[in-house]
Amino acid sequence: MESTLQETPQPGASGATIITASGLTKIYGEGEAEVRALDGVDVSFNKGVYTSIMGPSGSGKSTLMHILAGLDTPTTGSVEVEGTEITGLDDGDLTRLRRDKLGFVFQFFNLLPVLSAEENIVLPLSIAGRKPEQDWVDELISRVGLQDRRGHRPSELSGGQQQRVAVARALVTRPTVLFADEPTGNLDSKASHDVLELLRGSVDDYGQTVIMVTHEPDSAAIGDRLIALRDGKLVHDAPPVSADAVIELLKTLA
Ligand SMILES: Nc1ncnc2c1ncn2[C@@H]1O[C@H](COP(=O)(O)OP(=O)(O)OP(=O)(O)O)[C@@H](O)[C@H]1O
Ligand SMILES: [Mg+2]
Repeated sequence: MESTLQETPQPGASGATIITASGLTKIYGEGEAEVRALDGVDVSFNKGVYTSIMGPSGSGKSTLMHILAGLDTPTTGSVEVEGTEITGLDDGDLTRLRRDKLGFVFQFFNLLPVLSAEENIVLPLSIAGRKPEQDWVDELISRVGLQDRRGHRPSELSGGQQQRVAVARALVTRPTVLFADEPTGNLDSKASHDVLELLRGSVDDYGQTVIMVTHEPDSAAIGDRLIALRDGKLVHDAPPVSADAVIELLKTLA
C-alpha cells in the first residue's frame, strides 16, 4: 500500500467537500513539556464518504477529530464545515453547529440512564426543539434492530445494543458528518460488526458522511478512505485495500 501526498485528489466517493482543514497545529504545554499533537495537517472530507483514521497511540487522532468537530480549537489553522469557518465561532454558535450539523458516537455509549432507548435516540431533536418525524425514528429503530427494546433503559441493554442506540441517536438529526471515536473499542466482535455495518449502511443508504477513529484493521478496512497519522502529521491517505494491508501499514508507522 502506497502513501499518497496530501495534495492528491481525495480517495473514496466524490460528493461535495463538506469539511476542509488547513494548516492545523495543536500544541499542548510549553518549553520542555511542549507536545505537538498536530503538526501541519491539511485534509478535506467529501460528502458520502466513510473515512477511517488510524495511527499509533498519541499520534493525534482524537485531537484531530475533536478539532474537526468543534470540540476543541487548534493552535493555528482553520476548519470549515460547509463553508462556515468554525475556528472563530463563539461558544453559542459552536454549540448550535454541533447540535444541528454533527453527530457523535464515542467508545463509551454516553446514554442518559433515566431515558428509554427511544427517548435517548430522539434526545438531540428534543434539545434542538425539533419535532421527531416518527417515520424516520421508526426506520432508525428498526435499522438498528431495537424494535422490541425501544422502551428499555440503557441498564437493560447489552453493550452492543447501547451502542446501536448511540448510532441511531447520532443519525436522527441527519447530521452533515457523523464522528465516531473508537466506536467499537468497548464491544465484542459480533457487536462491533453490527455497529460497523450500521455505519457503513448509513453511508450507502442515506448518503451519510462518517469519520471514524479506530485501532482495529478490520474496522478500518470497511471504510472508503484510510487516513493515518504519525506524530501529529498526516502520513497516509488512500482507499483501504484489506485488513492485512492495513496491518502492514500500521507496522510501518509503529
Ligand atoms: N489536554 C492535553 N494536554 C496535554 N497533552 C495532551 C492533551 N491531550 C492530548 N495530549 C497529547 O497530544 C498527543 C495526541 O493525543 P491524542 O489524544 O490526539 O492521541 P490519539 O492518537 O487519539 O491516541 P490514542 O490512540 O491513545 O487515543 C499525545 O501525545 C497526548 O499526550
Ligand atoms: Mg484517541
